[in-house]
Amino acid sequence: MPIPIEAAIATEDSPSRETRTPGRSTWDPRTLAAFRQTVLEYYRAHGRDLPWRRTRDAYGILVSEVMLQQTQVSRVVEKYEEWLAAFPDLESLAAAPLARVLAVWQGLGYNRRALALKRLAEMLVALPGPPGGAQLPREQAGLRALPGIGPATAAAVAAFAYDEAHPFIETNIRAVYLHHFFPDETGVHDREILPLVEATLDRADPRTWYYALMDYGVMLKASHPNPSRRSRHHVRQSRFEGSPRQLRARVLRLLLERPGSTMAEIAAELEHAGSPVGERFEGVLTGLMKEGLIERTAAGYRIGP
Ligand code: ADE
Repeated sequence: MPIPIEAAIATEDSPSRETRTPGRSTWDPRTLAAFRQTVLEYYRAHGRDLPWRRTRDAYGILVSEVMLQQTQVSRVVEKYEEWLAAFPDLESLAAAPLARVLAVWQGLGYNRRALALKRLAEMLVALPGPPGGAQLPREQAGLRALPGIGPATAAAVAAFAYDEAHPFIETNIRAVYLHHFFPDETGVHDREILPLVEATLDRADPRTWYYALMDYGVMLKASHPNPSRRSRHHVRQSRFEGSPRQLRARVLRLLLERPGSTMAEIAAELEHAGSPVGERFEGVLTGLMKEGLIERTAAGYRIGP
């Protein structure tokens, strides 16, 4: 059944803004209540049932959030179960060779996210405690101190795993607040949005509220010119074709298939496959080595350490 998007939008009230100075706004409580009702009603009718929403396991939730950072939900749905089958917990992820971790990650892009997950698993498993008992930190500061975890991911994990209400903004949430509260403005800073996220946060059930906001934001983006274009923080994903990012991905993929290839062999193989490496090739290899995604051995390059 098609989603009655227009119906959901047509019933929205345009919020009355009493004052707006950058970073500080006051809003009529009735406006905020009506907004919450609109979002929750949409969720009750159209909320998505996603695999990571069926768990309370903080590790699984973290994996999903990291996968979702720059990747479409449909791709993550495919990979999430595969990842958890391969690495069901921090111990198995810490113990796995990096090549195996990257092999499972293929298809999601931005491979450094997989490396960050593996490194954080290694760090947590190395902490004192009973064997097999490694856990993610529960506090925000502890989560944020881990590789690849910023404030939004830490707050999302807390909401979805522990029912803790910390305000945060990610792309879909940003779209919702821009659409409702800043309909005619451009260059809106997250500093202006965050107080609204805080004022409307459902402290009794932040998990459901954030799911609802995200799903509502996805619907808005699909049915309107993306509201996030009016955000100060909006960055369009750069073109993948012909980019260093694409070259990095190709080098990694090749080394997964043929560990121990020399620089000349990698270049020849990529050229043969129709992707000329160009002058950025050496820089890409050096970058991958610096990040710890590949290493050079006497035999050639390979994934690791
Ligand atoms: N459900 C839980 N986290 C999500 C996210 N980051 N994006 C979309 N749906 C989600």
